[in-house]
Amino acid sequence: MNSLIHKAFDPEEFRREGHKLVDQLSTYLEDCLSGKPMPVLPPSDPDALAEFWKKDLETPGFKLHDFYSTLIRQSNHLHHPRYMGHQVVPPAPLSALTELLEAFLNNGMAIYEMGPASTAIERTVIQWLAGKMGFSDKADGVLTSGGSAGNLTALLAARQAMCGFNVWDEGNTASEPLALMVSEEAHYSVSRAARIMGWGEKGVVKVPVNKRMQLDASKLEETYQAAIAKGLKVIAIVGNACTTSTGTYDPLNTMADFAAKHGLWFHVDGAHGGAAALAGKYKHLTHGIERADSLVIDFHKMMLAPALTTAVLFKNGQHAGETFAQKAEYLLGDGQQKPWYDSAGRTLECTKKMMGVKVYVLLKLYGEELFRDYITGTYDLGKELAGLTGLYDDVELAVEPDGNIVCFRCCPEGFNGDLNTLNAMVRQEIVKKAEFYIVQTSIKGRIFLRVTLMNPFTGNHDLRLLLNEIRDTAGNIATALMQKVH
Ligand SMILES: Cc1ncc(COP(=O)(O)O)c(C=O)c1O
Repeated sequence: MNSLIHKAFDPEEFRREGHKLVDQLSTYLEDCLSGKPMPVLPPSDPDALAEFWKKDLETPGFKLHDFYSTLIRQSNHLHHPRYMGHQVVPPAPLSALTELLEAFLNNGMAIYEMGPASTAIERTVIQWLAGKMGFSDKADGVLTSGGSAGNLTALLAARQAMCGFNVWDEGNTASEPLALMVSEEAHYSVSRAARIMGWGEKGVVKVPVNKRMQLDASKLEETYQAAIAKGLKVIAIVGNACTTSTGTYDPLNTMADFAAKHGLWFHVDGAHGGAAALAGKYKHLTHGIERADSLVIDFHKMMLAPALTTAVLFKNGQHAGETFAQKAEYLLGDGQQKPWYDSAGRTLECTKKMMGVKVYVLLKLYGEELFRDYITGTYDLGKELAGLTGLYDDVELAVEPDGNIVCFRCCPEGFNGDLNTLNAMVRQEIVKKAEFYIVQTSIKGRIFLRVTLMNPFTGNHDLRLLLNEIRDTAGNIATALMQKVH
């Protein structure tokens, strides 16, 4: 055997490097959690960074430890309490450690034989979550790689169940174009799923939102009737729990009534906020989620697991097996039987990660109270930040937040320039200073700073400092912009 192959599989080297890496990450974790000053998102130029790594690859010599250090240094630091950007959680360390085990065992899970334990664990996790969401024991589902894949999986099932013919085998023979209804504020993966299914732009019927950016239930009937009048066959309605941009929840229960009235499939995109059903204090936000035909929840958003880990749940578990009905003789036998334990029958993926394991570990180590505490804490923090914005006349809150996504913008006194330009510049400046990481969003054409409180170690002090820094920055930019004009 080639000695390089032996080297690549050397158990001693693995042991040594593994211990070193865990030590390195533990120190990094301590630094982050203590709020040690560090650029949360280290400023970088994509081309320069690409050039850096190209040169690095060509440079002889390599020390794994140094490589890890550089990689950590150049990355976005989600474990730092001043990370307040996109909706990706700082994973609980032991969940991340479990992912090493998943990667190492690499049981591909397409079929039971390729991942017996992880298949059984995934089922346990799915059944646990389904029960918590208020589904009966008829429910079933699958774990998949991300909310986008999850929404597509659920909507493919909706199409197969509701279109009135066997679209999987016969192709799209509908006499009327198929469509779904969803609010204007849905995540783009919903519209992408419709387009992947060949429904095009017209296949996504947008329902207007109210001032809080929630689907306006009073517009449901007229939107539906207008779609029918245009010749569309609406087969599904999608609720946001919650929306990506402002984090507000659609009126799920009313939408479930509407779906029942018109015989539509009710899908809930709970990628971010579906998990609030686990937190007594915020459970009311998800009222009606238990009536969904399908539901997507990301464990890597509000449930402390590393990305990507998404649950797709079906109220009627049979739908889970009907979405991808295709035969693959070598893998799934004659295609007639669809046992629960061959996951390839239920997901887009063939080889797929053993993703239930890292969730199972969290449940066993800390109990579901961990999720409750995390969701309650970060949602409370969202309310706290919104409250703080109310102290200042030059800060405008976009909407009262439901949870941990808070959007606001600066309107410095006396500034008569373009607030969109100003706020976009503020965000750029904050990111450049790198003491905090925040993002921005556009709400009805107006740019707002968007803060998502994903880190459970962010505190009131951080929020106050953030607001001070933002207001100071906005004041300076406003002065500079006004001087330019005069
Ligand atoms: C409401 C919602 N749905 C779906 C997604 C997509 O999830 P993922 O990034 O896991 O593909 C997101 C991502 O932010 C989201 O906020």
